[in-house]
Amino acid sequence: MYQSLLVNTEDLICTITINRPDKLNALNRTVIEELSQAVDAALADPATGAVVITGAGPKAFVAGADISEFLSLDTSGGAALAQKGQDMVFSKIENASKPFVAAVNGFALGGGCELAMACHLRVAAEQARFGQPEVNLGLIPGYGGTQRLTQLIGKGKALELMMTGNMIDAGEAKQLGLVNQVTTAENLLPATYTLLQPILAKGPQAISKVIAAVNAYYATDKDGFAEEVRLFGECFGTAEMKEGVTAFLEKRKAAFRS
Ligand code: COA
Repeated sequence: MYQSLLVNTEDLICTITINRPDKLNALNRTVIEELSQAVDAALADPATGAVVITGAGPKAFVAGADISEFLSLDTSGGAALAQKGQDMVFSKIENASKPFVAAVNGFALGGGCELAMACHLRVAAEQARFGQPEVNLGLIPGYGGTQRLTQLIGKGKALELMMTGNMIDAGEAKQLGLVNQVTTAENLLPATYTLLQPILAKGPQAISKVIAAVNAYYATDKDGFAEEVRLFGECFGTAEMKEGVTAFLEKRKAAFRS
């Protein structure tokens, strides 16, 4: 069905694998368009409770946007590339109603680091490497990297990484708060699925509202506290909340998905 992606849904988790290992899974137009479609499909699918994004092959998660597409672009073409990618994939993932986790199996550079950062959580294999090397090409990040890296690790370190173009290893990424967990390559997907289990056992609407409320902190057009009040109120209109509270009072486990 897809040219550059593998998609598999099992036990409520949709795993999207970017599958261009010979080009280190670089994000060309086809990958961006297919990722957009796969994200839409996962969000619409009632059998999907969470999404994992990973890269094919032993070497790379995603080694960036596809550099071979750059030379034909002018100023407006460059801006359009960034805007389209942000709208079709990166912002869509960040604002998704279901949790997204990046399982970072290798290089996560440029657009790859940006894709991992657009996800809500990140698990890295020990050999993963992170960086925003765009300045090596006379470029800057265009898929939200200047904003999300600053949000995740703070201005000083974000500026250092983006101005030097240096890569960091998985251990340093964990120390900086860029990744949630580091594990072995063999354990990467099992650990990612394990991380999702307690999340999938919770009320899906509550999880979705946690994502929306936290994102409101960074939205310049929203008062995050007001947004939290609104979303908190909305919870009281859900069957999910009635089940959660009733289950607690009846001293039983809540069954949110049955
Ligand atoms: N866009 C397009 N092609 C890319 C790519 C990218 N971002 N990253 C890697 N590739 C391609 C290489 O051109 C090469 O293709 P070829 O075999 O047809 O020549 C193939 O993937 C393997 O990459 P290679 O550079 O040979 O692997 P390496 O192990 O020597 O180096 C990296 C790995 C990640 C250090 C190196 O590929 C790299 O620096 N990539 C670009 C990273 C980057 O600048 N990303 C930001 C883009 S805005």
